Order: sequence, then C-alpha cells, then structure tokens
Amino acid sequence: MSSITAARLAALLGSWRVEGPAYAALADRIRLVALDGRLAASTRLPAERELAVALGVSRTTVSAAYSRLRELGALESRRGAGSYMSRGSRPTAEREGPGIIWDFTKAAMPAAGPVEACIKAAAAAIGPELYRSGYEIEGLPQLREAVADHFGRRGLPTDPEQVLVTSGAQHAIALLARSLITPGDRALVEQPTYPHAIDALSAVGARLVPIAVDPREGWDLDEAAAAFRDSAPTLAYVIPDFQNPTGASLSEDDRRHLARTADRHGTVLVSDETTMWLDIRRGPLPPLAASSPSVVTVGGLSKLAWGGLRVGWIRANRSLVARLAQTRANLDLGTPVLEQLAAVELLACEDELVAERRARLRTGLHAMRSAIADRFPEWSAPDPDGGMALWLACSPWSSSELVLRAREEGLALTAGPRFGLHGAFEARLRLPFTDDPETIVDAVAALRRSAERQVRGRLHEPLVAV
Ligand SMILES: Cc1ncc(COP(=O)(O)O)c(C=O)c1O
Repeated sequence: MSSITAARLAALLGSWRVEGPAYAALADRIRLVALDGRLAASTRLPAERELAVALGVSRTTVSAAYSRLRELGALESRRGAGSYMSRGSRPTAEREGPGIIWDFTKAAMPAAGPVEACIKAAAAAIGPELYRSGYEIEGLPQLREAVADHFGRRGLPTDPEQVLVTSGAQHAIALLARSLITPGDRALVEQPTYPHAIDALSAVGARLVPIAVDPREGWDLDEAAAAFRDSAPTLAYVIPDFQNPTGASLSEDDRRHLARTADRHGTVLVSDETTMWLDIRRGPLPPLAASSPSVVTVGGLSKLAWGGLRVGWIRANRSLVARLAQTRANLDLGTPVLEQLAAVELLACEDELVAERRARLRTGLHAMRSAIADRFPEWSAPDPDGGMALWLACSPWSSSELVLRAREEGLALTAGPRFGLHGAFEARLRLPFTDDPETIVDAVAALRRSAERQVRGRLHEPLVAV
C-alpha cells in the first residue's frame, strides 16, 4: 500500500479553500483528487497533525475533514494503522446524488462503423496464424508492414522493423518511460497534457518540467527552449496534432524547431500521434518525426476506430525497437493476434474512418459550442480545428468545485488540475464533445444547474504559478 506525504497531498489539493466550512471544502477536494485518479485507492493519508501543518490549518479542521470522508465512505481508518482512501468503493453518501448519468470524464467515441466488419474479417483470416506459435513480441509482420505503409503515405518512409506493435498507445508511452527514464531524470511535458502520460512518467521516477500550450496561442517555444537548456531533459513528450486537452496543433515550422532543439540537447522527443486522426478542418501536416530521425512516434487506433481494440505502436530506430521489445518481455509477450489482424483491416480503410470521425466530431463541436453559448454566455468557448474536447476558461467558477457539484447532478467530468502539474488549471475545464448532440445539450444543462449551486466568485486564491 502506498502513502502520500503531507507536502505532496497539499500540492495535489491546490487552492482548495472555498466559502463555507473549511473542513467540508477540504473533504470535498480530497474526494475530487481521488475520484479523478490523482490519489489512488488504498493510499494512506498523512497523519492529521502533519497535514494540518502542511496546509496551515488547525488539526481540528483536518480531523473533521477526515471524519466527513469516513461518513461518505471515502476513507477508512484503522486504529494504529492510519487512514486509507477506500478501495474501489465510490462514496455512497447523500451528496452523491442520482448516480452518474453522463460520463464526460473520457474523451472517446463508440466504435466507428467499419469496426465490426473488420473484426469479422480478422476472425475469418485467423486460420494461417493458428499454425504459428502466436508469440510475436514486436507485432505481427503484416501489421508492422501496414503501420510502416501508413507512415510512408504521410511522407515518412519506414521499414517494418522500425515498428513495434503495442497494446494501445498508453502501453507504448509506459514502455518508453520504463525503457528511457532512470529515476530522477527530467522529462518535459506539455502543460496541460494527457494525464496518463504524466502518470506513466511519474511512475518511473521522472521529474516533470512543464512547457505551456494554449488552445489559441499554441506552444510557448521560447519557454520550451529555456526548459531544454536549464533542465537537460532525457525525454520530451508532446502531442503535436489536436493536443489533448487543448486541441492545438504544432505548426510545420514549430515542428522543425522543436525537433532541432531536442536533438541539440540529446533529448528523446516522443511524439504522441494518438489524436492525429481527429481533424475537423485543419488538413494534414507532416509527422513530427519527418523533422528528425531521432524522434520516436507513438500512435494507435483507439481514436480512429475504437478504444476497445487496444492496438497501438511505436515507430523508432531499429536498435530502440529491439531494446523496447526486451523491456516489454517482463510485462507481456505481445498484442493479441486477432486484434492485430483487425488493425490491418482497419488501416486499409483509414480514409473512410477519418471521414466518419470528422463528421461526428464536427457535429459534437457545434452542439457543444451552441449549448455553451445558450447556458454559459459568460464563457468564451474556443473553436479548435480538431480534437475531442474544449479546454475552457471556466471563471468565475472553480473547476474542482464545479466538478464536485456536477456529480450531484449526475454529470461526471474531469477537473482542470488533472491535466497539469503543481495544481495548475483550477480555472480550466475540459468538456469532451465526443457524445451525440442530445447528450451534450443535456450534460451542459446539468452543468449549468451545478454552477447555479456553486456560489460565484469562489476563485479567491491565486492559481499556482508554473
Ligand atoms: C494523447 C493520448 N495518448 C494516448 C492515449 C491512450 O490511447 P490508447 O487507448 O491507445 O491506449 C490517449 C487516450 O485518450 C490520448 O488522448
């Protein structure tokens, strides 16, 4: 069982104080960081006295907050052993409301139309594979070839031996983190970024250094250059196309610039292309790896076809692919063959899939922007040219507060700080537009009801500067 120090928990909680009793606000914020995955189930919380010192509040406040969490079923305390976040059991208190009706914590779509037919075609083609062992740690030769062809079509000639098939892009990121990072190494990440990449890099002991990305302004490359210079990172992780969560894309010039900077500092630049298919109206840009042979690319079919498929890949030089395959062997011995065969079929209808995703996302974006204009005239919704979500400035509401109140209306969302480091983004909310328009309209109406119940102007503490 892991434990969390008082200082670390205080940093995770960010600016948690809102109007009303301090103990209730503290309990709410601890629940939120547990609900959105920043605080794992079974984690042992600091002793009341230590947390009180770290937060600058009285021990009575922490004690009352822990009692409240126990009442809500979120915390278990054992005499002499401390207090632990409850395992798996969602708090079941009166405040939890009607249960979750709209799950907007995931920016993901149901399977695209051709997926079922491709899985059936894969099943029909399994015959010859059954005469082989089924163990291909680097991936099925025919899928490695199909992925190499996909890069070739985008102007990046690729040998199948440069491709390692993984069980989804998240597996690819975790594998790269394990293989490339030694505890204490620095890793640059965008701020905000995809939360599970933060988790994978943190889990192997990387010290994370943020580089800012804004939905409208894009990447702050001056800040990035200074970060490369000052922290000599081992790895830099970026999402160049329709970045999660901002929807921003790196321009062609900026791709070259970033790749050159990484090369100059001997940093492995990891380009996560999982979201590259989510183009609403941008048009293609060259892969980041076209700017330098040392860029490592992560990709996968979750956003294009279906998350349930669990097929991804890494494109790297042959020696890194061999090293990654070795690292992988103590985790798993390959990606399921049937899924890989389905992936070959799906890559053959890439254009059809992209068109289907584009139509759905365009409709979702329109519905989300209109619903926000109707219900939240005080917000200015960005208009990204791709991606799956709006990264909204949600002032005057606090993101974490809004997310907790939204759960009481049956709407599950992820608060801004989950996407950043050091508690940043309390004034941002990610709203996925991957659902159908009716669901989006209902969810935004529920959000408005939650906002009405949250007293305005609660953001009275400055955001943590990063
Ligand atoms: C940027 C990014 N990378 C990776 C992933 C994970 O993809 P997969 O489902 O292939 O593991 C996601 C999923 O949301 C993502 O947004």
